[in-house]
Amino acid sequence: MTISHSLVSLSLVIASYFSQSSATVIRRDDGVPSIRSELGPVLSPEAIIVDSERGNLTEATKRWQVFASPSFDYVVQVANENDIVETVKYANRYSIPFLVVNAGHGEIKSLGGLKKGLQITVRSLKKITVHDNNTATIGGGASNLDITTELWKANKQTVSGTCECVGFLGPLLGGGHGFLQGYHGLAADQLISARVVLANGTIVTASDTSNPKLFWALRGAGHNFGIVTEATVKIYDVPKDDIWYYENFIYQGDSIEAVFGQLNKIKRDTPVQFEHYAVFGRLPQIDPVNALVFFSILYNGPASAADKWVAPFRQFSPIDIQNGTATYPQLSGITGNGINDAICQHENLNRIRYPIYLDRFDPGAGKATFDYFNKTISDHPGLAGSLMLFEGLSTQAVKSVRLDSTAIPHRDYFVLSSPVVTYAPDASLDAIAEDFGRNLRMTLHNASKAEKMHTYVNYAVGEESLENIYGYNSWRVHDLKKHKRAYDPQDRFRWYAPIGV
Ligand SMILES: Cc1cc2nc3c(=O)[nH]c(=O)nc-3n(C[C@H](O)[C@H](O)[C@H](O)COP(=O)(O)OP(=O)(O)OC[C@H]3O[C@@H](n4cnc5c(N)ncnc54)[C@H](O)[C@@H]3O)c2cc1C
Ligand SMILES: *[C@@H]1O[C@H](CO)[C@@H](O)[C@H](O)[C@H]1NC(C)=O
Ligand SMILES: *[C@@H]1O[C@H](CO)[C@@H](O)[C@H](O)[C@H]1NC(C)=O
Ligand SMILES: *[C@@H]1O[C@H](CO)[C@@H](O)[C@H](O)[C@H]1NC(C)=O
Ligand SMILES: *[C@@H]1O[C@H](CO)[C@@H](O)[C@H](O)[C@H]1NC(C)=O
Ligand SMILES: *[C@@H]1O[C@H](CO)[C@@H](O)[C@H](O)[C@H]1NC(C)=O
Ligand SMILES: *[C@@H]1O[C@H](CO)[C@@H](O)[C@H](O)[C@H]1NC(C)=O
Repeated sequence: MTISHSLVSLSLVIASYFSQSSATVIRRDDGVPSIRSELGPVLSPEAIIVDSERGNLTEATKRWQVFASPSFDYVVQVANENDIVETVKYANRYSIPFLVVNAGHGEIKSLGGLKKGLQITVRSLKKITVHDNNTATIGGGASNLDITTELWKANKQTVSGTCECVGFLGPLLGGGHGFLQGYHGLAADQLISARVVLANGTIVTASDTSNPKLFWALRGAGHNFGIVTEATVKIYDVPKDDIWYYENFIYQGDSIEAVFGQLNKIKRDTPVQFEHYAVFGRLPQIDPVNALVFFSILYNGPASAADKWVAPFRQFSPIDIQNGTATYPQLSGITGNGINDAICQHENLNRIRYPIYLDRFDPGAGKATFDYFNKTISDHPGLAGSLMLFEGLSTQAVKSVRLDSTAIPHRDYFVLSSPVVTYAPDASLDAIAEDFGRNLRMTLHNASKAEKMHTYVNYAVGEESLENIYGYNSWRVHDLKKHKRAYDPQDRFRWYAPIGV
């Protein structure tokens, strides 16, 4: 017997000794060792495994919207980076599909392809460290509320999503629209470096100088490339005497053309301080029959400076006006995106979004979509909770970033529109709901005269072409697939707007 053979047999003896003396490996019906007996011992003591045996899987996998949701047999609530590495390796060993989940707002239908998977919950990686060179390092599980609150304490701010309950990294990996984007670019444009757990469990740093191709792909197509355990981003001093003036209008449907017409008229001239958004929806307390138009203007400055831009909108017969001033952290609450607002509740609702970037408001299409929206929610009362959004965040600094410098393909637009078809799960409404959303989007697209449709990856419904989401320049999808083959050849990250290998 050679020495190496004897070493192997010795190690087998030791291994069998330990497996007898410690807990026996529990196997599932298909022979795979149970997650608790195999993965449990290598996780940190603070990590939590949830499965059908222990814990509440329903609670641990609750999502913002439930249409075409992924399904999970296991959840690992990780407590540190190494827990992620071990969990990814475990999942790969047994070919268990996995998905990283933070705040659970991912909407795209491709997520529904994940069945009997393993959810890696990163929500407890919330640490935020402010460095004194105007950067901060942010844990992969921080939310927008965490960011705004923690940075504010240091008199700092950065670009993060407008909705408090949404994760910070999820939006960033697809671009990341926020109130401060007109000044500083998208959330992804703030990224300096990221620590990433790759598909094979290896940890790398992605930055301009380390894995630059991964760094390029992370900013726009990041959900396809790895698990970000922490990100270092640019932060900014809160400007002196910073104040936001807001004015919220409610209009009836017959004011749409005037409102949209006015927005087109000023769109080339509005300063970075001016942001707006319109929502079609029904608010029974105000009008139980007709949908209404909720239109908000945010102006980063005093009322006196805002007035020139706001005044025209007072002429279009609003049925209500509310105004006031706010600090930056209050903006989410003022626009209905606060942690306690309806939008932040996980309510077992289907919420199907059909987004489109537009470069102008078409007054005729505005009216047509409003009438169709109003009629459809009357014909199908189950859909009455639906919304139609037109987000007009300022875009100066978004547009000024070179188009080929990141995987974000769509930077030159004026408004991001999306119907969010909302209803309690009811299979008899599914086809109607999807038609409703598709028609609203197509009406806007047809009126836009744009040759091709452009969609924000983080709002995409999942029916779009790869080019629609990731860009029409022929090199974009080609390069993304090339980088995908380099960093994730087995296509493990294939559930969120998948690029494919
Ligand atoms: C109510 C609401 C408001 C929104 N507001 C905005 C907004 O203001 N601006 C904007 O740009 N977008 C916004 N979005 C879209 C948002 O960008 C996406 O829904 C985003 O994917 C949500 O991230 P999450 O952590 O909340 O959800 P999750 O479902 O937990 O994450 C979504 C996906 O992101 C990936 N992911 C999350 N965390 C990580 C990580 N640490 N590392 C690697 N991958 C990760 C995973 O693929 C996951 O499937 C909004 C969505 C909703 C529902
Ligand atoms: C599990 O969580 C769900 C959703 O939060 C809840 O409705 C249910 O009662 C919980 N089940 C148990 C056994 O606690
Ligand atoms: C900023 O400081 C942090 C912590 O000191 C450091 O890790 C980082 O590299 C610095 N970043 C830049 C851009 O200088
Ligand atoms: C909205 O729809 C209802 C029901 O069809 C209709 O009575 C009402 O006139 C519509 N309102 C508007 C503003 O078109
Ligand atoms: C709100 O509008 C009213 C009426 O125009 C005005 O008097 C008031 O000063 C405004 N509020 C703020 C905070 O500017
Ligand atoms: C959009 O235009 C196409 C092509 O002209 C047409 O077939 C389709 O019905 C239009 N859709 C909507 C919703 O207007
Ligand atoms: C993990 O994947 C990366 C990227 O594909 C590769 O460079 C690295 O060698 C792989 N590591 C192992 C241990 O296979």
